[in-house]
Amino acid sequence: MRIIPGGASSRPLFSPLVKVAAVAGAALAMAMAPAQAQETVKIGLILPMTGPFAPIGKQVEAGAKLYMQQNGSSVAGKKLELIVKDDGNVADTTRRLAQELVVNDKVAVLAGFGLTPLALATAPIATQAKVPMVVMAAATAIITEQSPFIVRTSFTLPQAAVSVADWALKNKVGKVVTLVSDYGPGIDAENSFKARYAAGGGAVGAELRVPLANPDFAPFLQRARDADPKAIFVFVPAGQSATFAKQFVERGIDKSGIKLIGPGDVTDDDVLDQMGDVMLGVQTVHHYSAAHPGAVNKKFVEAFMKANNMRPNFMGVGGYDGMHLIYAALTATKGATDGEGLLAAMRGQSWESPRGPMTIDPRTRDVVHNMYVRKVEKKDGHLYNIETDTIPMVKDPVKEAKK
Ligand code: DHB
Repeated sequence: MRIIPGGASSRPLFSPLVKVAAVAGAALAMAMAPAQAQETVKIGLILPMTGPFAPIGKQVEAGAKLYMQQNGSSVAGKKLELIVKDDGNVADTTRRLAQELVVNDKVAVLAGFGLTPLALATAPIATQAKVPMVVMAAATAIITEQSPFIVRTSFTLPQAAVSVADWALKNKVGKVVTLVSDYGPGIDAENSFKARYAAGGGAVGAELRVPLANPDFAPFLQRARDADPKAIFVFVPAGQSATFAKQFVERGIDKSGIKLIGPGDVTDDDVLDQMGDVMLGVQTVHHYSAAHPGAVNKKFVEAFMKANNMRPNFMGVGGYDGMHLIYAALTATKGATDGEGLLAAMRGQSWESPRGPMTIDPRTRDVVHNMYVRKVEKKDGHLYNIETDTIPMVKDPVKEAKK
């Protein structure tokens, strides 16, 4: 079988995605046939395991492996094999690895996808190969629309950002400045927050976008402060929240009376303790807190911490639930691995996740789950996002608006 290289194009006139779609279709379609006869079902898990976003990869991998450890490594009479690949947060690499996993390893499912550009680059492979692609981390709304084979177990930024706006309106927060990472999820967060906040009569003073790579937040924080807001709405991806918090403190904004609000990425459970008491009182909205009450989450957190010596965050639970979805689909198909059958089985699945109740919307293939308003508090000497309110079973507002 030919392997189509996913690296630099020798024909720069073609975009890499067009090139892959054109060349790979036949090879991928042929490659899928033997997978259906296999007794071992392979799952390709592609994540950034090195570089600045390695914390995302480590969390998702740990969540996925914990699920397998707790539920056994065979389903419906088939043995499962997890193949983990490191894309180093390079989209060309993610796409090439996905192609190799499909063509050479004959995986039945592609999974992982730490950041939005990595998921977007791989979508055409899922479509061509007819292989389900379970997005366990990336969170830009449009991702699931890029291939009919994509399902998501992470979240969408608009789900959280709209609820932040509602909370800020209800609590009469006043003028807000937005400060987001300048790519898909940040722009989603900014747009959804701004539209909802303005519709409710709230004022947005300035919209600041910080480059994703090696960000220096200091000049943006200064501009945010100069706009004299009551609150700064922040989105930074997991892996950058500790740097953000450090620069927030260095600029003295914690002592200025300006509130920090946003989706829960900025109070990431993985690093919250290390950010320190400056985070006390920060209010966010998100779908997962390690402090979420209930037996399912308690068991998950204890087992995750024991196995990995770190606290699970929203990425960890995305990996855990993604693996649950794969198990549930294989159970429903009685171990059959054709992509269309697996995908049909994934649509509409509902279960009790450590985050609370969760469903895969049969229409959009996107996640439906509770949003929780949370406040950072100290419990047993550690900082946690303590949930104070629940907005039940929120669908992605971007897709709801398109209905
Ligand atoms: C992405 C989204 C997040 O919420 C996050 O914390 C990290 C990455 C993304 O889609 O790239």
